[in-house]
Amino acid sequence: MFEVAILTISDGVAQGNRVDTSGQAIREIIESFNDFTIVKNHAVPDEKGEIIAILEDWADSEAANLIFTTGGTGLGPRDVTPEATGEVIDRPVPGISEIMRSTSMKTTPMAMISRQIAGTRGRCLIINLPGSPNAVRECIDIIKPVLSHALEVLSQDHTQNHPNM
Ligand code: MTE
Repeated sequence: MFEVAILTISDGVAQGNRVDTSGQAIREIIESFNDFTIVKNHAVPDEKGEIIAILEDWADSEAANLIFTTGGTGLGPRDVTPEATGEVIDRPVPGISEIMRSTSMKTTPMAMISRQIAGTRGRCLIINLPGSPNAVRECIDIIKPVLSHALEVLSQDHTQNHPNM
């Protein structure tokens, strides 16, 4: 069972002025997958320090195998999710964000202005998603075929399986 944490990054949601529709969409999709379970679901404002603190806490405590963030990837003056994620990850996984952006552009040219990134911190994979329910559904659909394999490889103890050991 892979453990998934959801972090909604939105001033409006964090202040209770907006409903967390994209976080809810992630929850519904993940709950429909057999081998995935939601372990955390939280909202923070578009504050780089707060985003970094929670991503580091969840990754370093091994609270989840996978963290999806939603929101704050665009060009708005307060959109800092990719910068915060970039400070947290130790290895980028550009293919994940490249395929989400390029495939999404067939549906909407607006996908081009999402600066979403992905990467690993320790044994945790962190993936930025844009902040709309449609975007979340489209993006998870695109990467679903590789998610289980990616998380399996990431959770391996390399010292046991490495051919040179
Ligand atoms: N990607 C997909 N697949 N579907 C979408 O509807 N919306 C775009 C883009 N990426 C969209 C998408 C829009 S309208 C914006 S403004 C950017 O994501 C950034 O969104 P964010 O700032 O809420 O993260």
